[in-house]
Amino acid sequence: MQSNDFNTGDRSIPRHVAIIMDGNGRWAQKRGMPRVMGHRRGAQAVRRTVEAAVALGIKVITLFAFSSENWKRPALEVSALMQLFARALDKEVPLLKDNGVKLRVIGNLNAFPLKLQERIQRAQELTSGGERLILNVAANYGGRWDIVQAAKKLSKMVLEGSLTPDLIDEKLFASVLAEPLDVDLLIRTGGEKRISNFLMWQSSYSELYFSDTLWPDFDRQDLEEALNFFSGRERRFGMISSQLKDNDKC
Ligand code: FPP
Repeated sequence: MQSNDFNTGDRSIPRHVAIIMDGNGRWAQKRGMPRVMGHRRGAQAVRRTVEAAVALGIKVITLFAFSSENWKRPALEVSALMQLFARALDKEVPLLKDNGVKLRVIGNLNAFPLKLQERIQRAQELTSGGERLILNVAANYGGRWDIVQAAKKLSKMVLEGSLTPDLIDEKLFASVLAEPLDVDLLIRTGGEKRISNFLMWQSSYSELYFSDTLWPDFDRQDLEEALNFFSGRERRFGMISSQLKDNDKC
């Protein structure tokens, strides 16, 4: 198991940061506003976070925008979230492109209206040249779904004869997941301490950071606090402390 993070001066920056953006509804309710206002302000926090991620040198950021379980919410909230997502795609894509951000939407997209699927496709094509940051937006995503779809892809390859089962190892399995890169730092805002079926495979060795900040209030300073926490962690990947120090000397 290799560490993904790299050192910039006195702080090691995680290569892949994943965020469970929780607390939009409570943010709005605390202010006597409808929940959808919390999601709107949440979209502004997405923009701030992406800008900060580019500036801080993070290479991949995966945001949990809509889980496979979120369909169970009131229909009005689901459709407001869809609209917000579609509008954000149209509005933000030129800015993403100009800033070298490659957008990928990961999840079971077949469940979305065809028009939205086309918009997603267009946005991905327009930003495909981005080399500074990969922005994964997880939509209708579930960690278990991801593992199942990966297993299906490999099974098909076996059935077609392009793969034999004994060649399946962790590296090959990861390569057919929606996002192959391990998560170094997993952040959840909003005070809850759960992973909620997010990147189950990819977060096997993640450092976990839970913040009480409600997502619409999340800003660069919050992200920096999470990075400082990450920087102070000793990532042992199953080894013991002295072995890591020996590795450093090599
Ligand atoms: C969780 O808060 C948040 C969501 C389910 C949706 C996240 C969506 C956005 C931030 C908006 C737009 C996203 C993009 C990528 C443009 P919650 O509603 O569960 O909050 P609660 O726990 O306080 O009820």
